[in-house]
Amino acid sequence: MNRCATLLLSLTLIAPFGDTRPVENSAEALPAALHADTLRNPSLFVNQSRAPRTIEVNLVAAPARLALTPGKLSDVYAYNGSIPGPTLEAREGDKVIVHFTNNLPETTTIHWHGLHIPAAMDGSPLYPVPAGGKKDYIFNIDSGTAGTFWYHPHPDTRTGYQIAKGLYGAIIVRPAHDPLPPMPEKLLILSDNRVKPDGSLDIPAPHTPGAIVDEENGREGNVMLVNGQVMPVIRIRPGEVQRWRIINAGAARVYRLAIPGQTLTQVGTDGGLFEHPADIKELVIANSERAEILVRGSSTPGKVTQLQDLPYDRYMPQTRPADWNKARNLVSLQYTTERPVAPVTLPTTLRLVPALDTSKVAVRRTIVLTQGMINQKTMDMHRIDVSSKLGNTEIWTIDNAVGMDHPFHLHGYQFQVIDRDGVPERDRRWKDTVNVPKHTRLRFIVRFDANPGMWMYHCHILDHEDHGMMGILQVT
Ligand code: C2O
Ligand code: CU
Repeated sequence: MNRCATLLLSLTLIAPFGDTRPVENSAEALPAALHADTLRNPSLFVNQSRAPRTIEVNLVAAPARLALTPGKLSDVYAYNGSIPGPTLEAREGDKVIVHFTNNLPETTTIHWHGLHIPAAMDGSPLYPVPAGGKKDYIFNIDSGTAGTFWYHPHPDTRTGYQIAKGLYGAIIVRPAHDPLPPMPEKLLILSDNRVKPDGSLDIPAPHTPGAIVDEENGREGNVMLVNGQVMPVIRIRPGEVQRWRIINAGAARVYRLAIPGQTLTQVGTDGGLFEHPADIKELVIANSERAEILVRGSSTPGKVTQLQDLPYDRYMPQTRPADWNKARNLVSLQYTTERPVAPVTLPTTLRLVPALDTSKVAVRRTIVLTQGMINQKTMDMHRIDVSSKLGNTEIWTIDNAVGMDHPFHLHGYQFQVIDRDGVPERDRRWKDTVNVPKHTRLRFIVRFDANPGMWMYHCHILDHEDHGMMGILQVT
């Protein structure tokens, strides 16, 4: 970055955000025309295969020039020319073949975040695809693994940069029989980005003051995107129930989602549906977590409200952004005046989430998170940090020893949180990422049921991950 940009950045950092500043992305802050923009689903991959239960697609990562913010072109990286990339939809039991071409000027990988697949297909930093290189990712979607996932680059030390440049996309795995009745479905890929007035991406160069703050906080952005759109519109009919699949693809922002005055029903998380739907007023969704919620058209017809990101203090006080306590609007939700539809009836049990057998626990481990380190070490591509046996059931204690949240992600396996600071978890849920709030200790149980090999575990604040908050688990 040149000096001028650095100066601009530091000015942004020290600029006081007074209370008169409008809510980011609020109605006041945006020209009216933008509000007519309906939320668009990212396009789907085109299946090249005629074979039954086979999804065969082409995926190219390449530089592009796209409008990331309305009316301004940015130099970005894109999957198949779009941000977000196309959505990969598959069914349990499908075979997926992705012919990937890396047309970026740098090494990358594709990580299929949350999928239960062989280690060599996981797109971890151990399996780099060099600039100009190709790789076929081939894996099967196991039964019982339906849910919402996502894919993103995962090269050594460059994940944050490449996702910031625009590389991320959704994966939806559908079960053979969905316990939820058919209803309108929306995908919401949440992301934020920091964009300069001329449209260029504001990514501070290493060792600049901005980079040092980002290293601590994680890079957050001034532009709030949903499927790459700023404040898109979702319309909902009276009586209608919509199913929203939400992905936090942000580098560092932990969203605290709410629709003022409305109760939401959460039905699923990272590893698919819950056993029972749960009514919630708000939803904290940390980096890389997913959620499925049901939203009801129960408000006054004609009313307009917003899906909001409420303040969430995940920060160290020293680097906490001055405007952290501002609510941000993400989506304009419009209750239409159409004829009411009869609400669908929800089952009270969605599926069974079997408890892992605690009498079979072979090993207990403790993972201590400090600022930038895991168990007092930074990532070494040539070091195995944890060795486990295939078939092991293990309990991991994740101990966040510092005053900042760290969302912990384990590749390849879904786990179940048992307790947080000794308080037992009320419901069993399959997770691959769990936010570990400041000075909190939680335990999860996991079974290495298949797929021997080397797996990453790390903090999903991308700046933390890239600066070494990652370790390697080997399952043999
Ligand atoms: Cu989405 Cu290793 O991460
Ligand atoms: Cu972290």
